[in-house]
Amino acid sequence: MAPLALKSLKPTVTRRSVTTRAAAVSGEVPSMEKRRIMNMLTVGAVGLPATAILGPYVYQFIPPSSGGGGGSVAKDALGDDVTTKKWLSTHGAGARELVQGLKGDATYLIVKEDKTIEKYGLNAVCTHLGCVVPWNAAENKFMCPCHGSQYDATGFKIRGPAPLSLALAHVEVDEKDTVVFTPWTETDFRDGGKPWWA
Ligand code: FES
Repeated sequence: MAPLALKSLKPTVTRRSVTTRAAAVSGEVPSMEKRRIMNMLTVGAVGLPATAILGPYVYQFIPPSSGGGGGSVAKDALGDDVTTKKWLSTHGAGARELVQGLKGDATYLIVKEDKTIEKYGLNAVCTHLGCVVPWNAAENKFMCPCHGSQYDATGFKIRGPAPLSLALAHVEVDEKDTVVFTPWTETDFRDGGKPWWA
């Protein structure tokens, strides 16, 4: 008789403990809606500062650029020389992407609608307090995440607190198809003024 009594008790105890544990756990797990909101907050909290922080962080590891005569060979994120052939094979019309430019500054290379590289590059350093300004393709402008300054697609300042437009650099292509930046010392074509960076 004794073994039979034990046998009938065992499953009863197990079911009760499982039921109790499940109820406790379901009280701790947030609903799907709560989890979705928590995820959005996490992405927002991490994503925005990362954009501003990682830009300069990544570019400090790119080796100093070469190039004579006041020019600098454009370097990609891996530190390799940028050639038009390679760049245009991976960047479509309208692309604005960072490379290392003059004095090691993060600089945007622009691909025109005709799939050639624009004759000028844009220094990505915000003229307010120096954050690297991301390109926002959906808005068709550069939007600084630090204090809200905005620049149009040519780097012309359209909203402060930044006091000035993004600096320009000439883009040239040498005999090896390598992209080279040279200083822009002429009139700023965007406002007809003298270049503040020269
Ligand atoms: S650093 Fe860009 S708006 Fe302040």
